[in-house]
Amino acid sequence: MSVRIGILTSGGDCPGLNAAIRGVARAAYQTLDAEIVGIRAGYRGLIDGDYQVMQQSQFSGILTMGGTILGTSRTPFRNMRVVEEDNVDKVHAMKMNYRAMRLDCLVTLGGNGTHKTANLLSQEGLNIIGLPKTIDNDIFGTDFTFGFHTAVDIATDVIDRIHTTAASHNRCMVIEIMGNKAGWLSLYAGMAGGADVILLPEIPYDIEKVAKVIEDRSRIGKNFTIIAVAEGALSLEEAAMKRKEREAAWQADEFYSVSHRVASQLEKLTNVECRTVIPGHMQRGGSPCAYDRVLSTQFGVHAAHLIKKGKFGVSVALKGNDIGENKLEDIAGVPKPVDLDHQIVKAARNINISFGD
Ligand code: F6P
Repeated sequence: MSVRIGILTSGGDCPGLNAAIRGVARAAYQTLDAEIVGIRAGYRGLIDGDYQVMQQSQFSGILTMGGTILGTSRTPFRNMRVVEEDNVDKVHAMKMNYRAMRLDCLVTLGGNGTHKTANLLSQEGLNIIGLPKTIDNDIFGTDFTFGFHTAVDIATDVIDRIHTTAASHNRCMVIEIMGNKAGWLSLYAGMAGGADVILLPEIPYDIEKVAKVIEDRSRIGKNFTIIAVAEGALSLEEAAMKRKEREAAWQADEFYSVSHRVASQLEKLTNVECRTVIPGHMQRGGSPCAYDRVLSTQFGVHAAHLIKKGKFGVSVALKGNDIGENKLEDIAGVPKPVDLDHQIVKAARNINISFGD
């Protein structure tokens, strides 16, 4: 069976994208009479018709490479149906270019925004398969996304390295970990790195309770405290505000990032010297860990199986130990926040890690 497969990577990059692309390509070349079209810079390339027919050799040597050989961009879903200054009807353009590229199907690798657009294109009649990537692990219907475990390893390493400075200087160190809406990365890295406090977007914190952790630790001779804070964590007061009101308050403040706000308040409340560390995009960079290489490859291979079966309008998923898929319409745009009864949250509480609540 001869089949022409488009592939694009959209949204923030993360480790494992190339491993997943390679997985799709190798399985497709092996099991189908496949031709693969690489679309550049995510949906931007589909809108602009920016693509190349790939050679098999282009998928060699990329398993361990970070980033994406296809390039990526953020093309927000909310703008997809909005005609902007360039006067381009983006949905129409994507459908026309899909046809101009003579695609039989399109594999989209991305996070929540990518999946929403994938679902839109599927509803517009295109044959779409999504692959769930993001360091945030916040895609509904899959136990894990690829990229997440690598980011956990990186953030854990940061916390490990910070411990020595914290202990040597008797400091409180506040490490800001990526994750705006979901705190999975902070939860896992905080637990793995032995943080004393983990602050998540899902659990508004009381800064006085965080200060008490520092004081209680000093009282029993522990002269330093490690706080892992998700970039989207909110205080009780902030959580009670409307988003615009909150953002205005932050902009008026000298501290725009959560770690700086937390550290400055804690210094005032406790008199303990505080420092902040923001590893930022390092958490998305470099080579995927072994787990992500395997998961990305499995996801890619499963996408090729689905193409062979002619099953579209789905996103590949990890469910327990099995690789399966979900209908795009069932998962696109559905959030996956940290469940407050999650066993890791409970285990953390059982070893006296504070969530500031
Ligand atoms: O979705 C992945 C992520 O790294 C989030 O954790 C973070 O909030 C966001 O992307 C940062 O986006 P950008 O790279 O566009 O600044």
